Amino acid sequence: MHNYGENPALSYNQYLKVRELIDLQQPLSEPESHDELLFIIIHQTYELWFKQVLHELDASIGWMNEGRKFRVNHSLKAATAIEKVIVSQIHILETMAQIGFLEFRDKLNPASGFQSMQFRELEFVSGAKDERILKFFEFDEYAHERLTRRFNEPSLADAFWKLLESEGFSVGESEDRLSSVGEILGHPEKYPELFVMQDLLIDHDENISLWRYHHVLMVERMLGMKKGTGGSDGAGYLRTTLDKKFFPELWEARTHLELS
Ligand code: HEM
Repeated sequence: MHNYGENPALSYNQYLKVRELIDLQQPLSEPESHDELLFIIIHQTYELWFKQVLHELDASIGWMNEGRKFRVNHSLKAATAIEKVIVSQIHILETMAQIGFLEFRDKLNPASGFQSMQFRELEFVSGAKDERILKFFEFDEYAHERLTRRFNEPSLADAFWKLLESEGFSVGESEDRLSSVGEILGHPEKYPELFVMQDLLIDHDENISLWRYHHVLMVERMLGMKKGTGGSDGAGYLRTTLDKKFFPELWEARTHLELS
């Protein structure tokens, strides 16, 4: 065992910048409201996991472009495992008493999760690109630049179709994509890596939908039908986002699948 009393070249706390990390939570309420620390930590934790998910999705696009299917699946597996954690993490916020939240909620105005740059990056990189979102980031040059770049870059969905094309599948029209996915769904053992890949992409889509649903339920539990700090109708607005899908053709192909 190293003698840690002797000033090691690198320590755990230095490597992970723990001192800086635990200094990054700065509540706005005065006197400090007990629950504001949890509120800040949970959001910061989400942003860290979003960073890692983006890292894995960007890597997946790179591996798809190189035709390295095993590596794609490895990164998608990591991304979807993290997403399952962030869906269940909402339970922690549900322990916050409604009245405790109201103690500091006004201080946040008009900030909102709606402005989470990395959540929007995650949507864009996955294939759900809505140009109107860019307008909301015009006040934030850094976020606007990142989102515009992602908006213009090929998404995970684009890279997947390109990979299928390079493997000899037709992907030109929507019907071609449906029948290509149908071919893979119908013959898992003939296309093992592509079968796992489309399944992991569906998993990714499903996880983000589950997050949206868990988030809106938590919001309703916390605020009822109050308006959001971002100015939307709150839970009413969030319910309109529940049907967003990154890979609609992967879902639709299930409808057409028959025994051959
Ligand atoms: C007490 C906790 C929370 C409440 C009451 C809450 C409330 C809301 C509301 C009302 C909206 C709609 C926009 C608005 O008008 O503000 C929203 C959007 C959003 N929130 Fe939360 N939220 C909470 C926690 C979180 C957490 C922990 C995250 C994690 C990052 C998060 C991420 C988001 C995102 C990404 C959106 C945009 C969703 C979309 O437009 O599709 N929220 N939130």
